[in-house]
Amino acid sequence: MLNWEDPLQGLTTRAPGPGSFMPPTDISLDLVESSPALAPASVPEITQEPALHQGATGLENIELGARRIQVDDKKIINCRADLNQLVPFKYRWAWQKYLDACANHWMPQEINMNADIALWKSADGLTEDERIIIKRNLGFFSTADSLVANNLVLAVYRHITNPECRQYLLRQSFEEALHTHAYQYIVESLGMDEGEVFNMYRELPSVARKAEWALPYTRSLGDPNFSTGTPETDQRLLRDLIAFYVIFEGIFFYVGFTQILSMGRRNKMTGTAEQFQYILRDESMHMNFGIDVINQIKIENPHLWNQEFQQEMIKLITEAVEIEIQYAHDTMARGVLGLNANMFEEYLKYIANRRCNQINLPEQYPGAQNPFPWMSEILDLKKEKNFFETRVTEYQTGGALSWD
Ligand SMILES: [Fe+2]
Ligand SMILES: [Fe+2]
Repeated sequence: MLNWEDPLQGLTTRAPGPGSFMPPTDISLDLVESSPALAPASVPEITQEPALHQGATGLENIELGARRIQVDDKKIINCRADLNQLVPFKYRWAWQKYLDACANHWMPQEINMNADIALWKSADGLTEDERIIIKRNLGFFSTADSLVANNLVLAVYRHITNPECRQYLLRQSFEEALHTHAYQYIVESLGMDEGEVFNMYRELPSVARKAEWALPYTRSLGDPNFSTGTPETDQRLLRDLIAFYVIFEGIFFYVGFTQILSMGRRNKMTGTAEQFQYILRDESMHMNFGIDVINQIKIENPHLWNQEFQQEMIKLITEAVEIEIQYAHDTMARGVLGLNANMFEEYLKYIANRRCNQINLPEQYPGAQNPFPWMSEILDLKKEKNFFETRVTEYQTGGALSWD
């Protein structure tokens, strides 16, 4: 059984940026060529033409006898080759993330919520400010993860034209379902008002603002008449991927995660904090996958990443930082748990600098420091001593446990 601090043994995630591209390898060529002796006798004669389709979705007619898919036929967007073949792999980082995600499988109901129930129901176990933090974060996340799942399934999936990336998107979609399940499970366990929590995204301005911000960045991709293939529409896809992976999952989740994990560090609501710890691990990988996809699109389509578009993305990120700073103030009118809204302001600037770096944009907040180094330790997979001495350090279903 592995622990958090165990070496990852070849499962480390590639750094995003141009280095995230993995060129075709000999292995993939091996997969393309098969021995004639092993081929079934009924296989039609192979033609010289690749299986090309206009507007490839994976649902086009099957072209009998078409040339076998080669690595170089694959493209991350606007691919015209048959999308039903996982191999030969081109983007091994995507396949590796799929394997890592499966190794990190967990289920919300496996986490013991008894201590949380007792604390939540006791008259003096939590302050009113602590209760607000818990309720507002459940209100935000319970619908935010549904929004992300709908965006993946109904918008993003159709436009990422690569089978190994789609394989990860399917896994991510299931994880988003698990996250929504986890929030519902917490709400049910604590006997909270479900209507209040699940309607907060349209009843409480501080929660509504973030969901409202995200919606325009999923609508066009979800439009059945939208398709990529022009510089304008390809930029639209790239922008919407940045909005969801870099900002929504990469910035908008971090005040809430930090607040709930801080509670767990103080031995309060440890079951809830443990659920959030698993979710943070998943989300960290979602974000890194998204960043790899974004950088891969840039590598294959460098004309999209022009100065004007970069300025637009910087504006998007800095606006989002302001919205999340406001969320920190709305959820913490006063200092709670040794935290205060000003610390979050610094933290969000620090995180935004990291996100800019990850997609090769200039840092927007020079000198911003991380006031929560323990969050980085968690994200960097350096196990903090005595942090939740529960199953979270032991639970896994097979391979390595990874935050990336
Ligand atoms: Fe999620
Ligand atoms: Fe996610």
